Amino acid sequence: MDDTGASDFIVVANRLPVDLVVDEDGGKSWKRSPGGLVTAMEPLLRGRDGAWVGWPGVPDVEVEPLEQDGVVLHPVRLSAAEVAEYYEGFSNATLWPLYHDVIVPPIYDRTWWHTYVRVNQRFAEAAAKVAAPGATVWIQDYQLQLVPGQLRELRPDLRIGFFLHIPFPPTELFMQLPWRTQIVEGLLGADLVGFHTLGGARNFRWLATHLSDATATGRTREIDYGGRTVRMGAFPISIDSGELDQLAREPATRARAAEIRTELGDPKRVVLGVDRLDYTKGINVRLIAFHELLVDGRIDAADTVMVQIATPSRERVDAYQKMRDDIELTVGRMNGEFARVGHPAVHYLHQSLPRDELAAFFVAADVMLVTPLRDGMNLVAKEYVACKFDLSGALVLSEFTGAAIELNQALLVNPHDLDGVKNTLYEALTMPAAQGRRRMRALRRQVLSHDVDRWARSFLDALDPDAAMASPG
Ligand code: ADP
Ligand code: G6P
Repeated sequence: MDDTGASDFIVVANRLPVDLVVDEDGGKSWKRSPGGLVTAMEPLLRGRDGAWVGWPGVPDVEVEPLEQDGVVLHPVRLSAAEVAEYYEGFSNATLWPLYHDVIVPPIYDRTWWHTYVRVNQRFAEAAAKVAAPGATVWIQDYQLQLVPGQLRELRPDLRIGFFLHIPFPPTELFMQLPWRTQIVEGLLGADLVGFHTLGGARNFRWLATHLSDATATGRTREIDYGGRTVRMGAFPISIDSGELDQLAREPATRARAAEIRTELGDPKRVVLGVDRLDYTKGINVRLIAFHELLVDGRIDAADTVMVQIATPSRERVDAYQKMRDDIELTVGRMNGEFARVGHPAVHYLHQSLPRDELAAFFVAADVMLVTPLRDGMNLVAKEYVACKFDLSGALVLSEFTGAAIELNQALLVNPHDLDGVKNTLYEALTMPAAQGRRRMRALRRQVLSHDVDRWARSFLDALDPDAAMASPG
């Protein structure tokens, strides 16, 4: 398919919304990619005439552009060495831990950096080729922070937006990065740089004026750089809440939720965790809290069960392997002590589930435990709320997520305070129904009225204020 220079709206992300699956006979199929970025961006492009530039998720494969649901997907090829150095290395063993409060120590490796620069340049070239004159290009996330600058060099006619899906770190931590100036200058290639929180935008502004030639204007959300104005702002991302609400209400989902409870042995209470298996998510914290409540005798494994569903993620990165071992050790210990034959205390699934099955788990759960040590937003918290159409259920939510700013009617916890997590989990399990309904009503009002479509519109309107003024909606 030749689509060169034809697209007016282009998303550029490390991953395509679908991953290529190559079976033993060389047959090819596609499956949905993991993580919150795709959850958020996928409904946005559906129905728009757009293009998506990204990696198909496996090394060394040449895939022709293809069309899916009206979106033209442009695969970017990465070699096995580039996957190791750009994706597993610089993106996920340097930037990811640095931007998440150095929960594990970031590794600063010069070879990885050079590969990051080269691969970003390839994404910029791919976007430059696909974009029509004057097109809008929206670059996503920490893997591609140099692309705005590289793309502007190639195509100064484009309108370029960048959104960071993870936290932007405190300035003191960012300053550790040996390539801090290059990263900041890369981001300054955009017309608008978006973050989940105002704190992120403020940190970026400070760094830009201290590390590059950017100068402050009189306004708090913009700076001058290279003869242009670069704006920045907070755009808290969301989900397709209306669609999930509908899915949860469907008779098939409700029947499956009831069946899940039966399969779990008809317990009085079901506690749920759903995450990518990542050390930022604080999975061990919640397991230990649950375990200690069992040990203390405040809850009984005969009537309260926990389910932890964890998508496999970044399995070749050392810190992920270690964390997986720790979690599986904890699960094994808990079940060794508290399970009965046929009745585990903790059900642990190292699997990715289909959306409708996940919705049924959300409907079935009495308490949702979301305990990251740091998370840019956390869409799982919003998904749980969107599924609780009957106002049942309680959300225990870490203060260290972007979501906690909006979902202030959740039971907020500090994941570093184990006693606090234990007591809050116990409070959630014993909360009077009327209080639970009041909280859930307020949470749902927020999540249903602030969906991903509103998020995208607010970013794109800020990126192109003239078009926003001209449009009647
Ligand atoms: P992150 O982007 O860091 O993975 P988010 O909570 O923002 O975290 O988004 C995770 C997305 O992945 C959500 O849409 C969630 O439903 C989905 N997800 C997480 N775990 C699973 C799982 N085990 N099976 C299927 N989808 C999952
Ligand atoms: C988070 C990141 C995304 C990433 C996703 C899944 O949501 O912000 O950029 O795509 O995790 O991680 P992976 O490394 O599998 O793409």
